[in-house]
Amino acid sequence: MPGHVISVLLFLALHQLLVLPVVAYTALSDNFLRLVPSGGDDFDIDNGKLLAPILIPRVAGTPGQTAAQQHFLNFFAAELPEWGVEWYNSTSTTPVTGNRQIPFANLVFKREPPWVKEGQSNLLTLVAHYDSKITPNGFIGATDSAAPCAILMHVARTLDRFVTQMYDEMSALGEGGSVEMDMGVQILLLDGEEAFRAWTATDSLYGARALAEQWESSPHPAMSFYRNPLDQISMFVLLDLLGAANPNVPSYIQTTHWAYRNMATIEDRMRKLGLLESAPARPFLPDADKKVFRPPSIGDDHVPFMARGVPILHLITSPFPDQWHTMDDDGAHLDMPTVRDWAKIVTAFALEWLDMMEVEPKENSGARAV
Ligand SMILES: *[C@@H]1O[C@H](CO)[C@@H](O)[C@H](O)[C@H]1NC(C)=O
Ligand SMILES: [Zn+2]
Repeated sequence: MPGHVISVLLFLALHQLLVLPVVAYTALSDNFLRLVPSGGDDFDIDNGKLLAPILIPRVAGTPGQTAAQQHFLNFFAAELPEWGVEWYNSTSTTPVTGNRQIPFANLVFKREPPWVKEGQSNLLTLVAHYDSKITPNGFIGATDSAAPCAILMHVARTLDRFVTQMYDEMSALGEGGSVEMDMGVQILLLDGEEAFRAWTATDSLYGARALAEQWESSPHPAMSFYRNPLDQISMFVLLDLLGAANPNVPSYIQTTHWAYRNMATIEDRMRKLGLLESAPARPFLPDADKKVFRPPSIGDDHVPFMARGVPILHLITSPFPDQWHTMDDDGAHLDMPTVRDWAKIVTAFALEWLDMMEVEPKENSGARAV
């Protein structure tokens, strides 16, 4: 081979080395998948510490809203003190509450590399709404979306240990500071998703609309790698209507189908390894091989974000659960193996997204699933 060809190849190889490896995506090992915890009794509907306190009516402007907020705040303060807490409050009238300004309060819990400057981390963004529908009176919304909120709390606490180890190791090696590697995670617990009377563009998504608008109009300082907080969202993963048995979650969005496929692969691998409790006739995520997409049509908290160019992975069952928007959407109608399996699948997806094979626990380290 002529020398110049070799040097060109060498140049290309070096160029690849220098440019590409900063963003790795390594599948979790079987060993790591086995260590992903399900949350167990913490999802118990009567006294589990994650889910039980959210199984109450929690409409904006009522004491249940405050109680739910307090539950999230207490949990993060007690178990995840490194996570930042931000409120995004707004008010609005609704078609059924007259001139009164109803308070809507989104909560954002965020863990990012300790060295990052404002606007410098890319954030896996895991989202659920915590409000419940005002009617029927006493409605609990167990799948809609108490269980998704509890699942995200479980994901956060499971990630924390690995994220902390990763940040510590990167700090020690002086590896931080390249924007692509500065990955973090944020949990968005949104308020006011439900319509008060009937779903319209203005009677729904009160919290999500306010947050997307606020983030769009909060530009980062000049020369920041990401323009604004929306631009920092590496993927907006929205969980909704999860927790009933035999869920079917299609792939809705062609441009992020690759991310759906990553999660479907995790589900498939976990099932084959015997790590999931449920035994549905079809996988929760059956669409890994989908080729033909239609424009997505389900209105949900992602809409104001998608309209602003944020990449979305929408995890909502279709058809909706039989209990949808009825008094039967309560704790008793959740299928606990399904809830715990979702907790495992979403946790594993987040671990993989955040490249946690870098800190894979060694087989004999005594780490055990709980
Ligand atoms: C947002 O509202 C909550 C109560 O709903 C309150 O506790 C909090 O202090 C408010 N935060 C801001 C920044 O206004
Ligand atoms: Zn709903």
